[in-house]
Amino acid sequence: MSILDELLAARARAANKYQLSKHQEQPTVKEEKREQEKVSKNNDSYWSFFRQETTSSVIECAHPQHGRCLQCSGRMLLHTKLEKCFKLRDMLSQNMYLSKCETKDISTMHEYVSHCCGLYHYCFESSQSQEFEANKKKVNELIDITRKADPKSLQITNQPKSSLQYGEVLFYSCAHMVFDLLMLSSSKLFSEHMTFIDLGSGIGKSLLAVSLLFPNFRKCIGIEIVRKLHEIACNSTKVWSDSLKLQDILASKVELINGNFFDETLIISKLFGSDHQTTVSTVVFIASTAFSASTMTKLNDMLLQLLDDNFQCINYVGVITLSHPLPDKQRFKILKTDSYRMSWGNVSVFFQQYQPQLLK
Ligand SMILES: C[S@@+](CC[C@H](N)C(=O)[O-])C[C@H]1O[C@@H](n2cnc3c(N)ncnc32)[C@H](O)[C@@H]1O
Repeated sequence: MSILDELLAARARAANKYQLSKHQEQPTVKEEKREQEKVSKNNDSYWSFFRQETTSSVIECAHPQHGRCLQCSGRMLLHTKLEKCFKLRDMLSQNMYLSKCETKDISTMHEYVSHCCGLYHYCFESSQSQEFEANKKKVNELIDITRKADPKSLQITNQPKSSLQYGEVLFYSCAHMVFDLLMLSSSKLFSEHMTFIDLGSGIGKSLLAVSLLFPNFRKCIGIEIVRKLHEIACNSTKVWSDSLKLQDILASKVELINGNFFDETLIISKLFGSDHQTTVSTVVFIASTAFSASTMTKLNDMLLQLLDDNFQCINYVGVITLSHPLPDKQRFKILKTDSYRMSWGNVSVFFQQYQPQLLK
């Protein structure tokens, strides 16, 4: 059974559970326990990588798990039965896994997101075969790779070396950030075919999370300058495609590029294609914590220039940056700021939307 089949089966089980609960014929606790035991027996199966979301998945606090502080109180998790979740469910139900599912049960969405989380961690942490070795690289090893990178050979004279510092987005934080941005922006602005682009994509963690969770992102593009990180991302994608039979998600959607995000020609071709015929809706993600003020200004100016030059092709552009917003707050309007947990701790996340010059 391929992983995709298993995801589909999980969806069917969730729908079934909902039907059963409607008729008060819930499976007995014993049956549920037996099912869970079966699952956890195979330690290296992707089932064992499930992580149910808790507050600490999205925000790091000093107090114990059940405590609350100003930072975490009122925080919504993807499985709480709140209005937000119903909106999320509606968004998710547009995707190919849930489209055939008739139930409107929130647990379906919750189970789906947990499955994607399990698959994500399985891809990056499984020790199943030698091929997966590269996927198991720990953050510290990856930081070492960026520390050893030589800015001269990378030809990044306009950026301090510290801006190469590696760090990664966590699965649930990534899911929330993209959900939040989409919910803050009017749904009319979205087209069926959206693009997600990660400027400085590391080993591609955001790309896997987004491509699994949001099938209406037609393309998930990552641009990474450090060749070794790019190679790890390519190797991982190949292994997931081949071994986990995720070709339809990954091979056709995820595009990894070893290049400089200040290469305007590259960015234009990825954002607008070669024909400039279709209008685009794009989410740009920049894990910018280690970027200097001057790097942020250069990114701001480059993005503005190329978006203004092609504004007739733009339906919507949302930008997520970490720790600093893009400096031009009129043209990149801040919709919201929130704190989310990354591999290096809690970080302020800025949700911004590009304002075409005509509306200024
Ligand atoms: C904090 S890491 C983020 C990794 C990934 N986005 C994630 O969240 O998992 C920032 C990455 O940006 C890359 N980077 C820095 N400057 C770059 C540039 N000019 N072009 C492409 N990548 C760059 C660094 O090499 C580093 O891997």
